[in-house]
Amino acid sequence: MKKTLVLSYTPRDNSNTKKMLDFFIENNQDKTEITFVDLAEEAPDLLLKENLNLYVNRNFGGIELTDEQQKVLAKNDKMMQQLLDTDFVVLATPMYNFSVPATVKAWFDAVIQAGKTFGYTETGVQGFCKNTKALILITSGSDFGLEPYKSVNFATPFLITAFDFLGIPAETITKFGMIQYADKLEQMIEDAKEEIKVVSDIWY
Ligand SMILES: Cc1cc2nc3c(=O)[nH]c(=O)nc-3n(C[C@H](O)[C@H](O)[C@H](O)COP(=O)(O)O)c2cc1C
Repeated sequence: MKKTLVLSYTPRDNSNTKKMLDFFIENNQDKTEITFVDLAEEAPDLLLKENLNLYVNRNFGGIELTDEQQKVLAKNDKMMQQLLDTDFVVLATPMYNFSVPATVKAWFDAVIQAGKTFGYTETGVQGFCKNTKALILITSGSDFGLEPYKSVNFATPFLITAFDFLGIPAETITKFGMIQYADKLEQMIEDAKEEIKVVSDIWY
């Protein structure tokens, strides 16, 4: 059975992004082995002075770390290994302040590791997760599909670029304007479910 890594950052009570993700899980849990990571309960470690230098020394400098030093990187390494071990990734997140929530960015900082998930080759930088596919479920309060907001949507371009850097093509189901178009909320969620079905049928 194919494996799916589900990354959920949907902490708000009655989260609309969670409704979309719950539908994905209900629809597919019999067809794939799901590993569920709740990024609102367990955040990756931010890259701070100690772990950043250990990571750079190990992954770029080729320096072997002690067991104690390895332990400092263990949480983020585990998240990276979950990505290496999966066939599919589903990421559910709202837009926060024109971009992704810090925890979601921290997940990418954890898993984008030189020599492991990407590397420098004769033909340039390459992502190593080439057999993986991703689905992004993202919502926002305002309509970021229209100007003046469209050009300051740093969320979906970041997510698509970051997955692409890892070698992972990403489909995006975007429901912008959940607050702005509150009267169309239910319809937007129903539309998202139809789009989720289409992707699920292709995947499994
Ligand atoms: C901290 C915070 C920051 C937000 N920033 C934005 C934003 O930059 N643009 C926007 O359109 N909506 C923003 N919103 C609204 C959410 O993106 C929107 O309500 C989303 O649908 C919430 O998803 P949820 O129902 O899964 O919690 C923000 C909400 C919060 C709580």
